[in-house]
Amino acid sequence: MKIDEKLAAAINDQINFEFHSGYLYLAMSNFWREKGRNGVANWFRVQAQEERAHAEIFMNYLHDRDGVVRLEPIAQVKQNWESLAETFADSLTHERKVTQRIYNLYALAEEEKDYATRQMLNWYIAEQVEEESTLQDILDNLELVGTDGTGILQIDRELATRTYTAPKVGNN
Ligand code: FEO
Repeated sequence: MKIDEKLAAAINDQINFEFHSGYLYLAMSNFWREKGRNGVANWFRVQAQEERAHAEIFMNYLHDRDGVVRLEPIAQVKQNWESLAETFADSLTHERKVTQRIYNLYALAEEEKDYATRQMLNWYIAEQVEEESTLQDILDNLELVGTDGTGILQIDRELATRTYTAPKVGNN
């Protein structure tokens, strides 16, 4: 069944926001690579790949429902951070915003009685719980080590081990 236009427009807006999220994480990755924190840089590069996948899942879904995808300019993002803690705190704030946006989409799908969209959004709701929890864990560890160089190096090494796995969802 063709998707309602208002809901399609809201999903299209979220596609832009997913690319914007990826852009933010790429900026974080580049910044920390330039500062020599290569593990952190790797972690954010993988995070940016995930955001692109989130956008692609939404694009595929809109196409499956005969909706229209129109890519818009991506908003400028912050480029400098004072510390790793500030970077991860910004990420957590950003992900909370994403979660709220997904909830708003879900509420709109409910209003439109669009059960397929609600079903599709369930994956994102679970994903956001993971995203927020992972960021909170990293932030807690950073707060624990404070300015201790050995602790920071240890965290950087752990973040270097993250690899990208494409999400298994829908027809992706
Ligand atoms: Fe696509 Fe990090 O939420």
